[in-house]
Amino acid sequence: MAETWRIDLVVPAAAVAVFETALDGLCDALACFEIEDAGPTRGQWRLEGLSERAPDHHALTLALALAARAAAIDEPPVTLERMGPRDWLRDNLATFPPMDVGRFHLRGSHVTDPPPPGRHALIVDAATAFGSGEHPTTRGCLLALDALARHHGTRPRRVLDMGCGTGVLAMAAARAWRRPVLAVDVDDEAVRVAGDNARRNGLKGFVRALRADGFRGAAVRAAGPFDLILANILARPLTAMAPAAARALAPGGRIVLSGLLAAQETRVRNAYARQGLHLRWRLVIDTWTTLVMARR
Ligand SMILES: C[S@@+](CC[C@H](N)C(=O)[O-])C[C@H]1O[C@@H](n2cnc3c(N)ncnc32)[C@H](O)[C@@H]1O
Repeated sequence: MAETWRIDLVVPAAAVAVFETALDGLCDALACFEIEDAGPTRGQWRLEGLSERAPDHHALTLALALAARAAAIDEPPVTLERMGPRDWLRDNLATFPPMDVGRFHLRGSHVTDPPPPGRHALIVDAATAFGSGEHPTTRGCLLALDALARHHGTRPRRVLDMGCGTGVLAMAAARAWRRPVLAVDVDDEAVRVAGDNARRNGLKGFVRALRADGFRGAAVRAAGPFDLILANILARPLTAMAPAAARALAPGGRIVLSGLLAAQETRVRNAYARQGLHLRWRLVIDTWTTLVMARR
């Protein structure tokens, strides 16, 4: 069992994405949730990072100072706590209850009850990659997938999950449509986890996980054009990717965009509108927006 360091800070909702990015390389796991208790921090967001290495103080201080400047807020107070030896991953698994999102039923591998009938069951453990299904952005994408499958008669032939994390969206698409899905991530660990999850869920024949930085790279180009692209990343990379994403989209294709806070929505929508895509569906969960945009 490893020793664990915990980093804890509270920031306004609009600063969450910037601080998440800043802490990304400094923590093994990062959780963000809105504070609902009464008190002066109500409505703000708590970021809780866990690391199995002692955090590099200099790197942490610098990352937080830059994030505060980028978010135009004062540097938030940070608690750094050394916790006793603890298998936090196992603890985390045990507290992750099964979850229904639309017709998708997500559960950790520790749950042994049979899944409810009529649902697309997926085993996804809270692990070293993002995408257990708990975050509003993942839920937004799953609900968008469900709506596309249920109401729009969409049956995409080729699907891309850009920034796949655990592969949860790729697997959900494969379950819903029984179609091949390319799942890519810039993070090698996420690619490994997504591949393992596809195998564990019996979807190895449908989901192919590989490393790619955005739409660069021959494998992504060769697998397109896509009828459906799922991209739950962050507003800034999504905006930068708009031209490449639009090129990779087949005529009539749709793209699901998430990872953007309400205040960032217009910028992202405009970036895709400039590529000839228009809004078809929109969902806000907490302060996170999910968009479905389509090529005319
Ligand atoms: C918010 S997580 C989404 C995970 C999962 N798709 C979900 O919906 O829960 C974003 C993922 O995008 C990946 N990512 C960030 N920038 C990327 C890029 N330029 N190319 C590919 N993946 C990227 C991150 O490594 C991370 O795994």
